[in-house]
Amino acid sequence: MDPADHLFTKDELSKYDGKEGSPGLYLAILGLVYDVVKGSKFYEAGAGYGFFAGRDGTKAFMTGDFTEEGLVDEVTGLSPQQMLELEKWVKFYDENYTYKGKVIGNFYDASGNPTDALNSAVEGIRAGHSEEANRARFKKFFPHCNSHWSEETGGIVWCSENSGGDKREWIGLPRKFFRPGQRSHRCACVRTSGPPFDDPESEQNVGDLAYPGLKEYDGCDPTAVRCELPKS
Ligand code: HEM
Ligand SMILES: *[C@@H]1O[C@H](CO)[C@@H](O)[C@H](O)[C@H]1NC(C)=O
Repeated sequence: MDPADHLFTKDELSKYDGKEGSPGLYLAILGLVYDVVKGSKFYEAGAGYGFFAGRDGTKAFMTGDFTEEGLVDEVTGLSPQQMLELEKWVKFYDENYTYKGKVIGNFYDASGNPTDALNSAVEGIRAGHSEEANRARFKKFFPHCNSHWSEETGGIVWCSENSGGDKREWIGLPRKFFRPGQRSHRCACVRTSGPPFDDPESEQNVGDLAYPGLKEYDGCDPTAVRCELPKS
């Protein structure tokens, strides 16, 4: 076996804590072992992140729970968003430190094969990427309205070419925008022409104004770029 792809037991890995007489300073994340000796100032005994040394403390990278209960090789209960953040940490170690092998545990079995736990972690990362892509699409196709509130006028929402932050070539009409699975809404500026928005949820092409998650503002002309919200 390639010495750079060694299978560690947890016991073996625990010796790599960088203390005097130890064989080195390693840590693991998602079952992958890295030599972090060049980051000794972070990982050596007593340093700010010394608790990661010699083990796979995957979950703590997301929870910030650096107790024995928190420093575990698990990802249960992490959101797709957190799985994305975790993937960034793996990339961080891959780019900045030396890969040494895998640790036998929750993510790799005694033959070094990925476990169901690792497969579902990978699935979680994939879900994170797809949520991210949907968020970006919604931001592009349904940018935020400008809004203002004052005691005298009550609330006003309106659209302009740069509402929502990114300048674009269209202005759009203000609509209540309900994202899939959410009860609350925000104001979105909705395109009235151009190629139809294809809905990532239904895989269907819909005209932007026909998108099912939109509602007109009560008492506002549906063709107006500016709506005064009824005072309540
Ligand atoms: C879940 C919470 C956190 C985790 C898992 C975490 C993890 C880490 C790790 C592993 C490193 C070393 C990176 C390397 O090898 O170069 C690091 C560095 C660092 N972290 Fe965190 N961190 C967390 C929260 C924070 C917070 C809240 C702050 C700031 C208030 C912070 C500030 C820093 C700084 C400044 C460095 C670089 C230290 C230096 O250059 O001396 N971290 N972090
Ligand atoms: C590697 O480390 C540098 C310096 O800390 C950081 O800027 C860079 O983003 C790291 N690489 C990855 C993939 O995170």
